[in-house]
Amino acid sequence: MSMKPATTKPAFGTPDEIDARLATAQAKGLIKLKPISANLGVEVEGVDLKNKLSPEQVAHIYDALIRHKVLVFKRIGLNHEQQVRFTYELSEVSENIGAPTIGHTVFGHVDNYPEIFSVYQGEKSKPRNMARYEASATTHPWTGYHCDITACVNPPSIGMLRGEIIPEGVGNTNFGSLAAAYETLDESTKQQVATLWAEHEYKYGKTKGSEAGDSIASRRMVSHHPLVTVHPETGEKVLFNSPAFLKFVVGLSDEDSTALLHKIWEHSVKYTITHVWDEGDLVVWDERSTTHRAPTDIYSAGTERQLYRTTIVGQPLHGLDGSVSKIIEGEPMLSCEEELTSQMHVGRTGSATTGNGFGSAFPEPG
Ligand SMILES: [Fe+2]
Repeated sequence: MSMKPATTKPAFGTPDEIDARLATAQAKGLIKLKPISANLGVEVEGVDLKNKLSPEQVAHIYDALIRHKVLVFKRIGLNHEQQVRFTYELSEVSENIGAPTIGHTVFGHVDNYPEIFSVYQGEKSKPRNMARYEASATTHPWTGYHCDITACVNPPSIGMLRGEIIPEGVGNTNFGSLAAAYETLDESTKQQVATLWAEHEYKYGKTKGSEAGDSIASRRMVSHHPLVTVHPETGEKVLFNSPAFLKFVVGLSDEDSTALLHKIWEHSVKYTITHVWDEGDLVVWDERSTTHRAPTDIYSAGTERQLYRTTIVGQPLHGLDGSVSKIIEGEPMLSCEEELTSQMHVGRTGSATTGNGFGSAFPEPG
């Protein structure tokens, strides 16, 4: 594989150019941004997501998203209709993102709201493999981090979660910047990962025969993505690692692959933030440049949490030399409408808890 610079110009400009646009919008009072950390995250005020947005407002929000990677709208209290409407508005902003997809590619959706996935955690959804997960998390701090559904050749471009029932003192979500993770790698590791690819798989080993396991088995997905990707909007280089889905580095021995991945994963979790939920929060993240991890402390607290996710389709990812993600098994993620008519969801109940017990522990949801 020859090394060439990425051939496409960043669609939305360099980070400096985006900053200049955002500074102008803020000076005009069109949006207000309060940074959360040096590497990622801003609180957004001054835009009312309950009502239809103008194209200019959506453009400011998208600029803020691709620049800061995680947007937090505190206590805005959207309902299903408003979240879906905003998801569609955001999906129109760039040719590099697709339409909103179905609630969950594998687990279904909320009844009557096909774009919404219910993320419920409580005693009745406690994963059977929780003890194994917690043991892993103590020795491997990246346990549970993932970008959503990277087993798919075109993983989501944008995800968003809305907090509806929020427990006190538990249930935080972590987000990490994979652009900061790349930027801060040492030079020899940058050289090493520049042309490598990784296999991502949606796998559910231990509990075959469960509802979640059957759902995953019904839609097998395996893809190869570059280990370093180029963000289509900003041109930023991204250390695209999704521990919960990423199984091995293509072409390396098992030992070398594991050693490299552990090094990358340990490094990546240094560039993370913690979101402490309040009821009514909406958090929007750029799936192409971030990773995230769902909490697991809700189960032992004997409480419950209810979030709702919507997700926008992405494109196959581009490596540093312009090469593009490859399907090994399975179908691309489609728009909500296409997913509904594809026959890929026949037999799924779309019930509010489908998949969540599994999800909270391993790759899904938020
Ligand atoms: Fe997730």
